Amino acid sequence: MEFPKLRPRRLRANENIRRLVRETKLSLDDLIYPIFVRYGEKIVEEIPSMPGVFRYSVDKVVDAVKEVRDLGIPAIILFGIPEHKDEVGSDTWNEQGIIQKALREIKKHVPDIYVITDVCFCEYTTHGHCGVIRGNTVDNDLTLENLKKQAISHVESGADMLAPSGMMDGMVQAIRSALDESGYYHIPIMAYSAKFASSFYGPFREAAESAPAFGDRRSYQMDPANAREAIKEVLLDVKEGADIIMVKPALAYLDIIAKVKEVTLLPVCAYNVSGEYAMIKAGGRLGWIDEEKVMVETLLSIKRAGADMIITYFAKDIAKLINKGLI
Ligand code: PBG
Repeated sequence: MEFPKLRPRRLRANENIRRLVRETKLSLDDLIYPIFVRYGEKIVEEIPSMPGVFRYSVDKVVDAVKEVRDLGIPAIILFGIPEHKDEVGSDTWNEQGIIQKALREIKKHVPDIYVITDVCFCEYTTHGHCGVIRGNTVDNDLTLENLKKQAISHVESGADMLAPSGMMDGMVQAIRSALDESGYYHIPIMAYSAKFASSFYGPFREAAESAPAFGDRRSYQMDPANAREAIKEVLLDVKEGADIIMVKPALAYLDIIAKVKEVTLLPVCAYNVSGEYAMIKAGGRLGWIDEEKVMVETLLSIKRAGADMIITYFAKDIAKLINKGLI
């Protein structure tokens, strides 16, 4: 059969029939909200290139997390900005470190939100790279030793899940075995498996004070040109014991999300990163695009590509629309 008997427009005639045939839907269950915690007291400061996103001191973070919980969002991912940086990022495994303090506060006052921690070093090192520098590059295996310490320390302070983001070889295996040896076999790992060396991280680096002081991250993060290599990274992380696979960024990498979904049975997370957020906010402010509609369409595209969950700075905005029954 073909036109004029076949007419796809019949199923687009009104909102009721469109609802019935809609294939993808955004839900609160998809959302993870990133939260920046910084040193100091009584601080709630907006990030200039990320309007609507704030950095909170530990005493202010609980209220921010409660707001997220009250909107029905199941999880947050924490990033820290420490008072003191050093060559190796030792704040990351310090019991009095910024993430450790925030974890204890959040777990005490908002026990019903799921807390993921970003496990990395760039916000904590004086040079801004994601590990220990030897010569002019990040030494992989020395960094693994420190990653283990950071991982254990986060769990001891209350982290529910760890998300290593440094793209070190063997990082999932190292963290998995460190956790298991300490009896933390129940703590899952969300691996930033296919993390690209992207310019879309710009606003985040301003927010987290984590831009590299020299060079760039291309000797550890992936070349944006490579898709097959992303699959290789994913399959390695599956073997090493990852529980959830992440693709990052999301929007310029929808093909990677779709391919990854085909090669693994693990849940797939996509990170809708800071630059993706900033572009939509900026376009909206200029009046050049309809910010809300573009936001919904963007997140829908990430889910349609295959993401089971999305880390996004839009999580609260989307949750509000869902709660009002508008999407
Ligand atoms: C590394 C990390 C980065 C982001 C998340 N974890 C920055 C980087 O790799 O330079 C970026 C997130 C975003 O842009 O929203 N700790």
